[in-house]
Amino acid sequence: MGSGQWMVEKRSGLENDSFLKEHETPSESGCLSIIVLGASGDLAKKKTFPALYHLYRQGFLHPDEVHIFGYARTRISDDELRDRIRGYLGKEAEVVSKFLQLIKYVSGSYDTEDGFQLLDKEISQHEVSKNSAEGSSRRLFYLALPPSVYPTVCRMIRKCCMNKSDHGGWTRIVIEKPFGKDLESAENLSAHIGELFEEAQLFRIDHYLGKELVQNLLVLRFANRFFLPLWNRDNISNVQIVFRENFGTEGRGGYFDEYGIIRDIIQNHLLQILCLVAMEKPVSLKPEYIRDEKVKVLQSVLPIRDEDVVLGQYEGYRDDPTVPDQSNTPTFATVVLRIHNERWEGVPFILKAGKALNSSKAEIRVQFKDVPGDIFKCQKQGRNEFVIRLQPSEAMYMKLTVKQPGLEMSTVQSELDLSYMQRYQGVPIPEAYERLILDTIRGDQQHFVRRDELKAAWEIFTPLLHRIDNGEIKPKEYQPGSRGPVEADELLAKAGYVQTHGYIWIPPTL
Ligand code: BG6
Repeated sequence: MGSGQWMVEKRSGLENDSFLKEHETPSESGCLSIIVLGASGDLAKKKTFPALYHLYRQGFLHPDEVHIFGYARTRISDDELRDRIRGYLGKEAEVVSKFLQLIKYVSGSYDTEDGFQLLDKEISQHEVSKNSAEGSSRRLFYLALPPSVYPTVCRMIRKCCMNKSDHGGWTRIVIEKPFGKDLESAENLSAHIGELFEEAQLFRIDHYLGKELVQNLLVLRFANRFFLPLWNRDNISNVQIVFRENFGTEGRGGYFDEYGIIRDIIQNHLLQILCLVAMEKPVSLKPEYIRDEKVKVLQSVLPIRDEDVVLGQYEGYRDDPTVPDQSNTPTFATVVLRIHNERWEGVPFILKAGKALNSSKAEIRVQFKDVPGDIFKCQKQGRNEFVIRLQPSEAMYMKLTVKQPGLEMSTVQSELDLSYMQRYQGVPIPEAYERLILDTIRGDQQHFVRRDELKAAWEIFTPLLHRIDNGEIKPKEYQPGSRGPVEADELLAKAGYVQTHGYIWIPPTL
């Protein structure tokens, strides 16, 4: 049986072990070591450890078989690391303490063997103490590190820390974006890492793929009859995929300035969503089939034209001391992509992302064409839209024209609304990282970016990024707290988006 087919069963050592007896499927026998490299950094503190904690709390990481290692250069003790992350975990003090006891800290550099040999020794000791059969142990390395050290760290893991032989055990590597800065650097990185690990061992995280409503896209599109006949160029006028944040790059200016909004958000998060909106039905849910279809979408995207791009930079961005005074880096971008295939020819996909805007939200907005033969003379009120609100207030709603209740035969804009907070009261929505780490343990690569997918994504944006880096395209200045540059709204209108006036969707409250 390939390692990908092994199941990780939900087990609760905390409250409910009868579940295990009844439902146990052949589980991997070896113990599991999760190694967080860059353990004292921001990402580890804010995302990785909290995600591991939530998995533990829900019984997905069982104290009898799991041990967590933090690795970083800082010389601190186990307890110091625990104290650093405690505040990010949760309010249930007893559970938090039990979880923290599973964490051990190893300090070492990223480019010499000593530290990694020590790490290997610690992991092996844990495996021996758990009587894990030779070769059956599972080692998950989570690189919460700057990408510049990926190649070296991967080499060290390969040399010093691999699971020793293949008896059901495995070694897997989770890496975070940015995967390079353009096509060439991304390909170099992929080649380096590809020499050390098989593609099946590599889990490139794009955390948007772990969001509940993003994961719902496949179900929505392919398990419902409604969308089947409508989801094409005959009915859809344009698609918007939007990310907005109402705060700037405070505290991250140095990193951000090297990358900009296109590399930070559009080339990865929004493009991944575009793939799921636009792809054809996969042969089955096998991860390879899904990723094959996503790659086909990316390969069908036409080169980006300058007139299909509006860039912005918010006023005050360059006041950040870590940002160069002359920075040309966009903090806002609207880019219209065109997909050259039978389903989507002529339908603009408008990707829009910005920092320091007037609101924070992420959504997909599918706008339909006008109804032919407008006997109600209601066309001006607005078009049908299907909106998937990714965050906050997860929802999907269909904006449509209905009769205004009352004696008159007049029309009004309304909606069919599936708001999660109301429909799924009390059902917690898991954090993206939680879900993706669980997928990694299970060996399911469906929600991770494959190497050829990454390459195709960079091929789309690299020419534009180079023109921006060379100062050939300049961002327009916009006020923090605004909608972004007015030119972006003009581009939206030019692409065919018709704004509805006098209607606003209000998320229901309980
Ligand atoms: C990260 C970006 O990938 O996503 C950040 O680097 C951005 O700039 C973040 O703020 C947004 O993620 P989320 O899950 O809060 O929407």
